[in-house]
Amino acid sequence: MVDCEDMGNSFDISLEKLTGLGVPRETGSAGGGASSGRLALGLAGLKPGIYRGETLEGGLRPGAAEDPKSTDLSQFRVNRSVCATQGTFFLETFGCQMNEHDSEKVAGVLLARGYRQVESPDTAAVILYNTCSIREKAAQKIFSRLGEYRFTKKEGQVIGVLGCLAQQEGEEIFERAPWVSLVCGSASYRKLPELIAQLEAGNSRITGLDTDTDETFETEMTRRNNPWRAYVTIIEGCDKACSYCVVPFTRGPERSRASASVLEEVRQLVDLGYTEVLLLGQTVNSYADPSARRMRFSELLAAVAEVPGMRRVRFMTSHPRDFGKDIVEAIEAVSAICDHVHLPVQSGSTAVLRAMARTYTREEYLERIAMLRGAKRRISITTDLIVGFPGETERDFEETLSLMEVAQYDGAFSFKYSPRPNTPSLKMEDAIPEEEKSRRLGILQAGQRDIQVERNARLVGEVFEVLVEGKSRREYQWMGHTSCNRVLNFTSPAKELLGHYVQVRVTGAGPHSLVGEAIHGGGGQ
Ligand code: 5AD
Ligand code: SF4
Repeated sequence: MVDCEDMGNSFDISLEKLTGLGVPRETGSAGGGASSGRLALGLAGLKPGIYRGETLEGGLRPGAAEDPKSTDLSQFRVNRSVCATQGTFFLETFGCQMNEHDSEKVAGVLLARGYRQVESPDTAAVILYNTCSIREKAAQKIFSRLGEYRFTKKEGQVIGVLGCLAQQEGEEIFERAPWVSLVCGSASYRKLPELIAQLEAGNSRITGLDTDTDETFETEMTRRNNPWRAYVTIIEGCDKACSYCVVPFTRGPERSRASASVLEEVRQLVDLGYTEVLLLGQTVNSYADPSARRMRFSELLAAVAEVPGMRRVRFMTSHPRDFGKDIVEAIEAVSAICDHVHLPVQSGSTAVLRAMARTYTREEYLERIAMLRGAKRRISITTDLIVGFPGETERDFEETLSLMEVAQYDGAFSFKYSPRPNTPSLKMEDAIPEEEKSRRLGILQAGQRDIQVERNARLVGEVFEVLVEGKSRREYQWMGHTSCNRVLNFTSPAKELLGHYVQVRVTGAGPHSLVGEAIHGGGGQ
């Protein structure tokens, strides 16, 4: 879960040079990375064979019309003004991968109801923003986006705010932006169809803001944006209550999905042609199977990896407290479980960790790192760090720097502490001045960059399997991720490699990515 302008990240790649093929969004980093991505429409962004053109145009999944359980679309067509934008929606997503995936489901819900997705808000009857409020900047950005409609909102147009900012600000959003008509937090997404139907019926203001749900947001249809990596939510919400974080408030309490339902979705994804899944949760490893099977998280990882046809299983984000040896053993035993763990530490000082209510000490965290570094299979480790938490002394900050040296992260997302509404740390004293936060962030990012330069340089000469996700405009240039989640840009004379697994020898390295050449030209598998 990441979104910030002032972050330093690890495996980011500029997609400018890549064609739209296979890289449908302006995202692409280890922990989430991008702060906003307008949905790219058109067949370029879709996995061949999964969606037919009519899915994009008409909104119906092939076969849905024949399905007796499918929704009667006629009820959603009443009361709609006859205009060019009729039945169209525009959806823009801010924030983390959980948000991106929620948007995929929201789009699925709307498409299944006969809506058509459009690329520009100008041509949409319904404009939706799926928002992030993790840091102040993210929230500001959304309010400025909403501000664009103050004078330009068209008659009959619906503007909706979904996600974390919606949950956090609630009806206040109507005060600040009276042209908004829908405010719905992620814990209420199950009610979305109902809420949209009410808007369709002429209601001018609707909210969905309950968080007291024990349900997860499962939909019959998900409109997937990433053609190579499918997101699968296994746990929603968060019970951890870190003192700086809005998530427990905006996403509600932890709710895990039954293991059978997760496995069923993964089987369907394989049928659709996916070979890589990313299991998602704010604290993914706190997964607690609510069904009688009572699968542990590590067992679920292995079970997903064993679904015939599945080649790569990723998971994000892990909380150090619940990170046990069994997860490392699963990675050691099952090669399809990717050798990458994102394990946010936030601070290297036990005093700051205590103030953050992270529930572990520096030493306990470093024990997890030692366990990962001692694994039989090399595992890449990435993290999240916050500088300038209230009361963080120079000494505390130096402890963070020294922890980074010991942990030797393969990548890190780092942020300046941002005070957030409803969080306990908001009332804490000894705020760190902005300039000092910036100074610390600069030092930390420079140190981490050096670590990455050195670690990546050591990989030169090694061979990695790459899932090819992008093609450069320059001939013979391709891009993909390794199992350890590094971006590898490589050359191959092959004509078509998108979606293939290719063996690539690393010939060069930078702080954020590797370069290489396909062995025997690639050929693909
Ligand atoms: N200020 C700065 N960073 C934050 N994060 C979460 N809340 C805040 C905040 N109030 C960071 C944490 C988390 C990541 C997703 O965002 O590092 O792991
Ligand atoms: Fe926020 Fe902490 Fe939960 Fe992560 S574990 S979502 S940082 S409260």
